[in-house]
Order: sequence, then structure tokens, then C-alpha cells
Amino acid sequence: MDTLVQKIEEYKAEIKNYIAQKSEEAEAFRIKYLGSKGLVKDVMGEMKNVAAEKRKEFGLLLNEFKLFTEAKYEELKSATAGGQEAAASDMDLTLPGDPLPLGTRHPISLVRNQIVSIFQRLGFAVAEGPEVEDDWHNFTALNMPENHTARDMQDTFYISQNPDWILRTHTSSVQVREMEKGKLPIRIVCPGRVYRNETISARAHCFFHQVEGLYIADNVSFADLKQTLYFFVKEMFGRLSSPGGQGENVKVRFRPSYFPFTEPSAEMDISCLICGGKGCNVCKHTGWVEILGCGMVHPNLLDNCGIDSNKYTGFAFGMGVERITMLKYQIKDLRLFSENDVRFLRQFTGAV
Ligand code: DAH
Repeated sequence: MDTLVQKIEEYKAEIKNYIAQKSEEAEAFRIKYLGSKGLVKDVMGEMKNVAAEKRKEFGLLLNEFKLFTEAKYEELKSATAGGQEAAASDMDLTLPGDPLPLGTRHPISLVRNQIVSIFQRLGFAVAEGPEVEDDWHNFTALNMPENHTARDMQDTFYISQNPDWILRTHTSSVQVREMEKGKLPIRIVCPGRVYRNETISARAHCFFHQVEGLYIADNVSFADLKQTLYFFVKEMFGRLSSPGGQGENVKVRFRPSYFPFTEPSAEMDISCLICGGKGCNVCKHTGWVEILGCGMVHPNLLDNCGIDSNKYTGFAFGMGVERITMLKYQIKDLRLFSENDVRFLRQFTGAV
């Protein structure tokens, strides 16, 4: 019995000093001491050789030895598992991660949103209409009856199944749809895509984008139109010089023009942003670039849409988003907008 007690003490000392750094070493401990052929089982097997009156005392000792060994095993197990955790916690979670490249908005979307938001600040609401339009909304109601020569100003795509359906050539069709609703006053901007049967080149495309504006109320005048557009140019392109003013600031001028849906009609030019008005290829050496068409809504349009033209007046304008974007970013080829080359598209960020 005494030799057995001594043996247990020796084992206990050995166990106490056992060190495991890896989980495999903790497992080796388990096999050596607690396995089916382990030392604990071995010592327990000695029970049969112990004198009967000593068995109780030896049993307690054995039990305590077993618990001691099991406790050590648990300790080793969690220490080595903790070792992996320790390795994991060596990771510095405050370091920046691998960057995920974010997409950017298309320059046309950015500029369209900016145009719209400038007019929204003046109280204009946004209205939209269909891209497949009928003849009435795109032409006839806009004072361009069948065979009117002004229809030739815009090369139209017709839908072969139905000659009355076309791809809208301008967003002015949305004006008509709003006026037909008959709710006055009307103060809207209509952003959207338009289509024309044009040969694709650096300056023309078979589809592009416009923003249309329409304001109809009592006593709307050309002066209101001018002030609205002055505000727009100032917000869009920077400071506006005083009428006839000098300096680097953007200058604005109106030229008489013709549109069937407005009377009088005008086109608005701004001083060329590329050469500062000195003359270059973009402004064809005139120092001015046209950015929009506008005018006072023709009374025929009001009548066509059931609005009393004796009571109400209005102004309208329409601009090309591509043209504004090209001026703003000095882009010389319209085709870049639809080629989807990410090297081009990535250059535009939210800050316009
Ligand atoms: N619809 C014209 C175009 O596409 C632009 C335009 C000019 C719109 C004058 C208007 C306007 O509302 O008053 O060329």
C-alpha cells in the first residue's frame, strides 16, 4: 500500500508539472493518464491487491487522484484552445480592411440631379412621362400639326407596328401631359431620355437626355423666365457677371429664335467656359455656347390642353444634359457617355 501511495504522489508531481502548448499535447496527456490504458486505470487496477481494511482509505485516495488528473486535463485543454484564441487576438482589428471599390454615378446622372435640384430649390416639382410617345403629345399638341415643317427639326424614330407611336424626340411632350391634367399653377421640371435618328458622332447621338421646365400661372412674364434661368446658370456654372459686366464670370445672353411651342422664343448662350470667351473650337470661335431653348408658352398649346389662354401665361425651357455636362467637365466627345469605359466613368464623383 505504501509503495502505491508513493507511486501516486510521484505521478501527481509529474502531472502537476506537465506543460502543454498545443492541443495535441493536451491530448497526449489524456491518453497517457486518463486513456483506457492510462496510468490512472493502471493504479486503480491495484485495488485488488490492497488489504480489505485499507481499501476504503485507498479508494478515497484513488478517487482524489483521478479528480486531480481530470482537473489538470481540463486546464491543459482550455489553455491550449486559448492559445489559438490568443493567436486570433493578435489580429489588429483597428487596421483598415481591404478596400472594396465602390461604383460611381454616371456623369449624366450627376448633372441631371444637379439641374433638377437647382430648380427644386425654386419650387419646381419633378414630372416624368413615357419614352414611347404618341404623335399628339410629341408634336400635334405642341403646335406642330401633321405636315408642319418644324417636325423636320427633329429626326424621329417611328415604331413600325403603330405609326402613331414614336420614341419621343424631346421632353416637351411631358409639358403637354401635365397641362392636360388641368391643375394650375404648374411649376415642373421634366428630366428624361429622348431619341433622334441622327448619325452618331462626337457631337450627336441617337439618344440623349433633356431637362424641360414649365411654369404656368397668372401673370408669368419673360422677366420671370430670365431671372429663373440666370439663377440656374449661376448655381450651375458659378458666379454670374452683372449684365454687360466684365471679368472671368459666366456671361449670359438671349438670342431670338423659333420654336413652334413658344412665342416669343429664344435661345440662351453662356460665355464659353473652355476659352473664357476668347474663342476656341468648342464655341466655334464665337466666345458663346448655346445651352438651352426657351420662350413664352404659345397660347395655342394652352388651348390645346384646355387651359384658358386669356387667363394664364407661362414660360418653358428645355436643355440637353449632355451639353451641360460637356461644358462643365470639358468633355469633347459625346460618345464617351455611352461607351461604358470605366476609366472615363470613374473620374466623376458625387461632388459636382
Ligand atoms: N424641345 C426643344 C428641343 O428639343 C427644346 C425646347 C425649346 C424646349 C424651347 C422648350 C422650349 O420647352 O420652350 O430642341
